[in-house]
Amino acid sequence: MKEIKNDGFIKSRIKEAASILRRGGLVAFPTETVYGLGARVSNRSAVRRIFEVKGRPHDNPLIVHIASSDQLSSLVSAIPPVAKRLIALFWPGPLTLVFKRREEVSSLVSAGLDTIAIRSPDHPIAQALLGELNEAIAAPSANRSGRPSPTSCQHVARELGKTVDFILDGGPCRVGLESTVLDLTKNPPCLLRPGAITAERLRSVIGDLGTIGSEPARSPGMRHRHYAPDFKVILVPPRDLQTAMGQLLNPKKRLGVLCRHKGPKPAGLAYYRQFEGSAALYARNLFSSFYEAEAAKVEVLLVEDVKRQGFGAAIMDRLERAAGREMYITTLCEDQ
Ligand code: TXA
Ligand code: MG
Repeated sequence: MKEIKNDGFIKSRIKEAASILRRGGLVAFPTETVYGLGARVSNRSAVRRIFEVKGRPHDNPLIVHIASSDQLSSLVSAIPPVAKRLIALFWPGPLTLVFKRREEVSSLVSAGLDTIAIRSPDHPIAQALLGELNEAIAAPSANRSGRPSPTSCQHVARELGKTVDFILDGGPCRVGLESTVLDLTKNPPCLLRPGAITAERLRSVIGDLGTIGSEPARSPGMRHRHYAPDFKVILVPPRDLQTAMGQLLNPKKRLGVLCRHKGPKPAGLAYYRQFEGSAALYARNLFSSFYEAEAAKVEVLLVEDVKRQGFGAAIMDRLERAAGREMYITTLCEDQ
């Protein structure tokens, strides 16, 4: 994790943000994954306001952010040995772990569950804020419920406007997709949300993993539709991208394209972005491309899919949720 440079301005902003949190306000702040909308865990009315501001269903629990694993014992009733191994390898970082909650911790953050999801973010501003406040921060992604997660402070401002008391600007997020969520209260541990810490890496450390399909009741957030931009998303395999562009180009519908592979770009597109290279680069730019395409008033965004392995599993999870039922152009053609 990079240190904050000796920048007086950002340090004073962090102090101000901490004092707003102390007074019960809501602060949006950068993490390495996406921007979070934070409240002090111990302030029940501030936590309640997070649900209101986001329009978040009350059965969808929040992730609690801590500076380091030293703060764990005040929040959880037991730390299994497997947690210690994962924490040593992946914290601070984009891995959220679900533990049994201590009874003293407000059940509001956990939406009434007896468990609690916790992570330590790998971002100098998030860490400095947690250090300054000296208390855990409950923070979902800083978007309205069901919308793409914000990866810049401009996205947060666009999503939440004046309903958030303060926004800390940390520039664009490095990872761009939300953390991996792993439920350690299950045996074997259950992967509730894929992310940058991949299933393959987790298996190499802890062996067997349960998946969300085998544990539907334990993953409240995954029941709700997510990541829906205000345009239609259609997925396309790389080999069909050119044909699909030709098929969907239509002077009456503003078509955008998000892809990885270089190829001829037809005239008449309302939006076009191409990110050649790693899945990590594609992931980093996924939600920001959604926000850009909205600004370009795109009506249909054609998105090149990726292999469902490694980080690709997280990308496909978000893309499929954004696309909803009619995911692929073939489905679309059949439906017409
Ligand atoms: O990267 C991230 O995790 C970002 C940044 C801000 O840290 N946060 C984030 O929070 O994505 P949110 O609220 O958008 O997603 C939290 C996910 C939801 O799917 C929720 O259901 C799940 O974590 N979750 C939270 N507490 C849980 C619990 N006790 N048991 C099972 N799932 C839980
Ligand atoms: Mg979210």
